[in-house]
Amino acid sequence: MTQMLKVAMPKGRIYRQASRLFRDAGLPVPDDADDSRKLIIEVPEAGMQFIMAKPVDVPTYVEYGVADVGVVGKDVLMEENRDVYELLDLGIARCRMSVIALPDWKPVLYPRVATKYPSLASRYFRAKGQQVEVIRLNGSIELAPLIGLADRIVDMVETGQTLRENGLVELETMFSITSRLIANRVSYRMKNEAIQALCDRLQPHIRTEERE
Ligand code: PRP
Repeated sequence: MTQMLKVAMPKGRIYRQASRLFRDAGLPVPDDADDSRKLIIEVPEAGMQFIMAKPVDVPTYVEYGVADVGVVGKDVLMEENRDVYELLDLGIARCRMSVIALPDWKPVLYPRVATKYPSLASRYFRAKGQQVEVIRLNGSIELAPLIGLADRIVDMVETGQTLRENGLVELETMFSITSRLIANRVSYRMKNEAIQALCDRLQPHIRTEERE
């Protein structure tokens, strides 16, 4: 008997690329599920149930085992620090995490850093031996230096458009980001066959090179 796999999919910017990858691999995930309000999508012919999750919650669902596997950005994975297995780099939703400031920024002794990723940013600056005050925001992070809340920000850069339109510059690239397939530790043992089959189907369709 085939084992039913519960897959946590991130709604929003990653969804279209993730669902396209699944479809390329012959797994019939609807491409418009992101626009619908439906939160659980059954695809019995593929032995799968898709859970439409807020991206930041995907590692939580997987750690607690309510989803066997999930698709999540490396940024969220590093921030959430959940006890899950990282199985595959899916090569989608490529971007980078950067330290950003106004072009006329000046070094200060104890800079304020605004970010949606407080844990990741704190670890980064601690490892560099730099003392900073981290201020957590939930979005529109680029506002912080423009209105004097922070000296720098730590944020994702994809096309660079947000930076250009707001006159900000990247001071350093911290790491590059792609989406990952993660698995619950118990599911990985109990549903190993189904999870392995999913990895085997996805793998040939993963692009390792930077997209055009
Ligand atoms: C993300 C990120 C940047 C922007 C980068 O924000 O926080 O603001 O996208 O993309 P770009 O380099 O292509 O301009 P998101 O759209 O997720 O919204 P947010 O401001 O609510 O975080």
